[in-house]
Amino acid sequence: MKPLFIVLEGPDASGKSTQLRLLSDALSARGVPLVATREPGGTPLGERLRELVLAPDSPMNPLTELLLIVGARHEHVEKVIRPALRDGKWVLCSRYTLSSLAYQGWGRGLDRDLIRRLNGLATGGLDPDYVFLLDLPPAVAYERTRERDRFEGEGLEFFTRVRVGYLELIRSVPRAHVIDGTLSQERVLGEILAHLPRPGI
Ligand code: TYD
Repeated sequence: MKPLFIVLEGPDASGKSTQLRLLSDALSARGVPLVATREPGGTPLGERLRELVLAPDSPMNPLTELLLIVGARHEHVEKVIRPALRDGKWVLCSRYTLSSLAYQGWGRGLDRDLIRRLNGLATGGLDPDYVFLLDLPPAVAYERTRERDRFEGEGLEFFTRVRVGYLELIRSVPRAHVIDGTLSQERVLGEILAHLPRPGI
């Protein structure tokens, strides 16, 4: 079976990191070789860029932010994601191209076509096989965050715009599923697994 590239998307504090761990454990238990990773980050340079982008005390222009995130994405795709898939490993990734469209496009108001072009450049057209959007009402996302970083310091309106973006974007993405992020962790995992093919079957 061809290795799958699976992306988890959703607002801050929607449970992506927990699901990344639970999904990785569940798939490993089924004997699936995999790499679990995240954006921004996933490479040593990417993690350094992540620190710069998220630091609450380093304000930057929205375009600078986009370029740093997209730069980190290119490193990630070339050094981690493509090599893993080539080696037959599944890749589970928290956030990818849709985050840039939802946050920098809908959230920050940057030109969406520009973001699409930059995403295309950074990924060389590598799209995920499955996307799961852990959806949360903006007020819940807002309340769950504790202003840990620059994005989490944004207001309710920002989270509302990001959610509108996600829900609009997801409609045109193949094999994308919206999962209710207010469900228990076990149920969210169950829904994700139900959409995935069972390896070896
Ligand atoms: P993440 O580590 O997923 O944070 P959380 O677990 O709180 O959801 O992402 C960190 C922040 O980076 C998040 O607030 C969204 C932001 N981000 C963008 O704005 N654009 C992007 O393309 C990516 C990948 C992340």
